Amino acid sequence: MTPLNQALRAALDHRQDLINELHAHSTDCYRLFHGSQEGAGGLTIDRYGPQLLVQSFHQPLETAELLELHQQINQFIGLELLLVYNDRSRGNSRIDREDTVYRAEPAALEDLVGHEWGLNYRVRGRHAGQDPLLFLDLRNTRGWVREHSAGKRVLNLFAYTCGVGLSAAAGGAREVCNLDFAEGNLAVGRENGLLNPLLPTMDFVQSDYFPAIRQLAGLPITQRRGQKLPSYPRLEQRQYDLVLLDPPAWAKSAFGTVDLLRDYQSLLKPALLATADNGVLICCNNLAKVSMDDWREQVLRCAEKAGRPVRDWQIMAPGADFPSQDQQPPLKTLILQL
Ligand SMILES: C[S@@+](CC[C@H](N)C(=O)[O-])C[C@H]1O[C@@H](n2cnc3c(N)ncnc32)[C@H](O)[C@@H]1O
Repeated sequence: MTPLNQALRAALDHRQDLINELHAHSTDCYRLFHGSQEGAGGLTIDRYGPQLLVQSFHQPLETAELLELHQQINQFIGLELLLVYNDRSRGNSRIDREDTVYRAEPAALEDLVGHEWGLNYRVRGRHAGQDPLLFLDLRNTRGWVREHSAGKRVLNLFAYTCGVGLSAAAGGAREVCNLDFAEGNLAVGRENGLLNPLLPTMDFVQSDYFPAIRQLAGLPITQRRGQKLPSYPRLEQRQYDLVLLDPPAWAKSAFGTVDLLRDYQSLLKPALLATADNGVLICCNNLAKVSMDDWREQVLRCAEKAGRPVRDWQIMAPGADFPSQDQQPPLKTLILQL
């Protein structure tokens, strides 16, 4: 057995109970190997329903190594999972679409369906973006949202493929609004809606975050140094009962810069103002180098200054399929009761 096979063996054994539990809750999307914490930095292996997605971020795997991992996992799960290998070890974590190591079977690249907490999600091994269509470290938060959405007006900010919105709809939300500036991501959100035909329909707003949230919060939209702003959809000032704020680590647009390291406040303040009294704001920070303690202090201070002090807060940790030796997982999530 190679050291990699041994590390994978240990990771699979470690997950046995979790996997049994997830299967019992109609969930077949989870991380099987989290390399940075389990002995092979830069390698992740995820199950997305019928598909096995292997991703390498530091150096490519060898074909024989990849096929051996695949076989080892098939034996463990007792299924023939469809293998997709995305080597992202070149510039900017972009997928090597030449497939020098391994070319997936056509069936593995078809539109597939994975399940989480009984909901259907679109799974695609390859699409225009780089990341998988469902972020697995947010699974517990989606579960929480589902359990706390009954009768609520829910706003899903930086919605991506709208997993949080879908969970709110499944939990009986009165209204769900998914907001993202990427039409392609919202299109997958619409597909996810169609894959769950019994759920009430959701709303989708394609807009940059900054003008959208400032309008909802009743704040002015300012031009930067006299530059003319691109057009943006008009929204009425209003509040939601449950708001999720899960921005990327860094992104720049004509309206502003998302920068979780230097300026979380300018994202957070308008989101606080768009959350109703007695409402809940769930906020995330996926930047590994920011510690939970420092970030939480910042968040609580910002809420105080914005006149929306936090009455109670709770940390939502990722599932045990995302182990972290120092108990500091990169994705930090706070549930704030306002
Ligand atoms: C980290 S993902 C969010 C993950 C998502 N919350 C989920 O549940 O899977 C980041 C998303 O932010 C969107 N985005 C980035 N900058 C934006 C901006 N200025 N305005 C609106 N959306 C933005 C991207 O299109 C992408 O869908």
